[in-house]
Amino acid sequence: MLNKIKANALARNIPIMSDDTLAYLIDSIDRHYVKDVLEIGTAIGYSSLSIAYHCPEIHIDTLEKDETRYQEALKNKALLDLKQVHMICADARTWLVDKFYDVIIIDGAKGQNQLFFDRYFPFLKQDGIMFVDNMYFHGFVKAMPQGKTKRNLRQMVNKIAKFEAYVHALNHIQVELVDVGDGLLKITRKKE
Ligand SMILES: C[S@@+](CC[C@H](N)C(=O)[O-])C[C@H]1O[C@@H](n2cnc3c(N)ncnc32)[C@H](O)[C@@H]1O
Repeated sequence: MLNKIKANALARNIPIMSDDTLAYLIDSIDRHYVKDVLEIGTAIGYSSLSIAYHCPEIHIDTLEKDETRYQEALKNKALLDLKQVHMICADARTWLVDKFYDVIIIDGAKGQNQLFFDRYFPFLKQDGIMFVDNMYFHGFVKAMPQGKTKRNLRQMVNKIAKFEAYVHALNHIQVELVDVGDGLLKITRKKE
């Protein structure tokens, strides 16, 4: 069923996490005795359902602002009968958090990483881990094509690079760019 959801998403150009990134996240979750996960960006549920399927002990809240995708994600969840995934139709820019999480995964609009970081990092538990996907933005952050490049693409790449510089400059956190999938940023609090 997960393979069907993945094939369906890929066929319709709905962006989903790479298998390598998912495997890395699942392994991190397993090794850190994680209970509560928050994901920004459900799309049609592929990543949250995959994580829940492999880590049955955890609870995941996942946010999607697009009503159509949210409805489709709910249907996929019902097909897999994974009750520990709580799908929420809401805009992560304004959604009110009311608990602390062991793991927070940012996989929403890539130009808004900094906003999501500022808003949700305070809700990461002391030993929690925040992950931000697509830091390479399909390779464009590492190597921008020469010559005419679409303005939107250039702006997006600049925003991702600026976000990376922003978090690196904060001295209360530890930042590591993990070379997996499309580039995964791993952020933790520095130990006192
Ligand atoms: C890369 S896709 C998520 C893929 C999903 N995590 C997966 O791997 O299956 C990003 C999703 O984030 C949603 N999104 C973008 N900005 C958002 C926001 N401010 N609040 C909630 N969802 C948002 C988009 O509608 C899109 O469906």
